[in-house]
Amino acid sequence: MPSLAANGHGAVGAGACKMCHRTQHDSWSASAHAKKGLDCEACHGNGADYKAMSIMKNPAAAKAAGLVLPTLDFCRKCHGAKADAALFARVHAHKAK
Ligand code: HEC
Ligand code: HEC
Ligand code: HEC
Repeated sequence: MPSLAANGHGAVGAGACKMCHRTQHDSWSASAHAKKGLDCEACHGNGADYKAMSIMKNPAAAKAAGLVLPTLDFCRKCHGAKADAALFARVHAHKAK
């Protein structure tokens, strides 16, 4: 199954993201992705080295520590041509900006 987890960093599991990203976590938990085992780190890269608040608050540091924002190309590996901007926006709930 396609995954972006392998970024050279350790895995921590979705529970380690929940305390700071409850909105995304709760929506993901109820999704088909969770049932298939496609977790936060499969889409955002393993998080052991970016999950600290000091790193997370600094986008460049988080990226350097393995954080990924998946693009439509990744979604297409499973969703094919059905992966469009509308599907992308619904990947999980987002906190109001
Ligand atoms: C200690 C709190 C904390 C933890 C734990 C945490 N994050 Fe974050 N994360 C933040 C903060 C703060 C930001 C920046 C502002 C925001 O989006 O709230 C952020 C931003 C992000 C972003 C957006 C980055 C961008 O450039 O737009 C993603 C994706 C993300 N985190 C994923 C994760 C994942 C996946 C995990 C678990 C492996 C995780 N975070 C764990 C606090 C945390
Ligand atoms: C199927 C892939 C996928 C999974 C699984 C996934 N995300 Fe995301 N996530 C995305 C995409 C796509 C975006 C939007 C990126 C963009 O706008 O460029 C995103 C954005 C985010 C953001 C930035 C703020 C926001 O909501 O837009 C955070 C924080 C985040 N995800 C956390 C998580 C956490 C925590 C989990 C697990 C509980 C998770 N994600 C699971 C694909 C995923
Ligand atoms: C490993 C395969 C896989 C990857 C990669 C994947 N998905 Fe999915 N996704 C699924 C499966 C399986 C379902 C449930 C069946 C369906 O609806 O196609 C699903 C369902 C969804 C749903 C809910 C169904 C719907 O039409 O509303 C959304 C939204 C979604 N995915 C968005 C995304 C986005 C955006 C990405 C890329 C960031 C992505 N997915 C990456 C396998 C995947």
